[in-house]
Amino acid sequence: MAATSSDHPSELTLREIPGSYGLPFFGPIKDRYDYFYNQGQDEFFKTRIQKYNSTVFRTNMPPGPFISSNPKVVAVLDSKSFTILFDNDKVEKKNILDGTFMPSTSFFGGYRVCAFLDTTESNHHALKSLFISFLASSHKKFIPYLRTGLTELFGNLENEIAEKKSADFNTHSDNMAFDFVFRLVTGVLPSETEIKSKGPVTVTTWLALQLAPLGTSGSKFVPNFLDDIIHTVRLPFFVIKSGYKKLYNAVYDSKSSLLEEAEKSGMKREEACHNLVFLAGFNAFGGMKVLFPTVIKLIGSGGESLHRRLAEEIRAVVKEEGDVSFSALEKMPLTKSAVYEVLRIDPPVPFQYAKAREDIVVESHDAAFQIKKGEIIFGYQPLATKDPKVFENPEAFVADRFVGEGEKLIKYVYWSNARETEQPSAENKQCPAKDLVVLCCRMMLVELFLRYDTFTAEIGKTGGLGTSVKMISFTKAT
Ligand code: HEM
Repeated sequence: MAATSSDHPSELTLREIPGSYGLPFFGPIKDRYDYFYNQGQDEFFKTRIQKYNSTVFRTNMPPGPFISSNPKVVAVLDSKSFTILFDNDKVEKKNILDGTFMPSTSFFGGYRVCAFLDTTESNHHALKSLFISFLASSHKKFIPYLRTGLTELFGNLENEIAEKKSADFNTHSDNMAFDFVFRLVTGVLPSETEIKSKGPVTVTTWLALQLAPLGTSGSKFVPNFLDDIIHTVRLPFFVIKSGYKKLYNAVYDSKSSLLEEAEKSGMKREEACHNLVFLAGFNAFGGMKVLFPTVIKLIGSGGESLHRRLAEEIRAVVKEEGDVSFSALEKMPLTKSAVYEVLRIDPPVPFQYAKAREDIVVESHDAAFQIKKGEIIFGYQPLATKDPKVFENPEAFVADRFVGEGEKLIKYVYWSNARETEQPSAENKQCPAKDLVVLCCRMMLVELFLRYDTFTAEIGKTGGLGTSVKMISFTKAT
């Protein structure tokens, strides 16, 4: 175990946590400017690691004034200390999903939905159990639904390239992700409901209004002091109220077995339904919106030689097995490894927060640190999963890193809010769809390389969540 409680003294020297919060009000604003404008995320953390000669230190995290009343955190930025965030006996995860502030519950129908609940709350146990059993009972739908969605996705991209010379991967990927998730949760396609094709735009707006304090406009034409206003006031729910209501009604009126099950377990149908909208819109769609373009970006960066190796592996296994199945996917070590490598290099949810339930001692590779009860612990995952003490050449995308002996390193992949070797349960805060998400990425590679020998893409940055990917060319399978 990386973290030890104070009643099990560590063998490493106990060191005072370095770093300071600066002057009240001004300190958090200075850190916010460094983080968003002067240094940028990665540099913000890297320069402080160097300055304090420690991967554990004190800092303020945005948004700070006037949104969060307490922006003070203890940052844990190496592979070892980071795991304290997964230890639900020692840390609390109440209202801390987005960090040091929580959006108004009007975004969720007035309820605190599952992802904001701590493991000690009975509702967390009830909802998480419901989601886990729903996913288990739906697993036969995963591969057929994904194949349909991916066939449509690549068809649409090809058509757009033929028409316009390039295709907007993000828009088509969002459409596919929304259809997949909505169909999985409700049993019907959004086009068969009032939502029609508006789902992705509605959910993206709803997400942006909640998460705005954590980002920037990304535009070099907006001066920093104007851009910074977004970190000082919460954006109101009413902007998206009618879109949210449509989404809610479509889920409410569907024959979703999840709603029936929730009612049987004594939960109000309304509460269950707001939870389903959050699960489909924030957890699932929000995650896929970031992750799928990243898969294409990084696999694209591997170039033709990686594409050839993936195509050879995928086609040989599918030929031998006669179809794409769970067992066929298990026989593709390079494909599996490439997906873990994407999740390691660019974890789709990069920030994790928790609050110490008691006084605890956390160990980095070099020292032990005491964190007091009630202090907020923050992890920036991209540094933890690129820890040079665990991964050789950590900044490089090495698609076969987790093949053979490399499999031992899978436990240091943390994207699902736990080690990749752990399983989600009602007692922890790990993503219940962990295996489904990995499956989605593997399926994306399988469909891609069954259809094409190679592809090229142009990468940019979106103003909002994730990477922007423009598909430039596909070379049909030979
Ligand atoms: C690419 C897609 C996805 C990504 C990247 C992702 C990532 C995550 C992460 C990092 C967490 C932990 C958040 C935290 O507490 O810090 C989480 C929690 C959660 N995810 Fe996922 N997720 C994805 C898809 C899904 C899907 C498809 C579902 C359901 C169908 C789902 C349902 C949930 C739920 C309910 C939680 C809260 C768990 C709890 O409170 O114990 N996620 N997800």
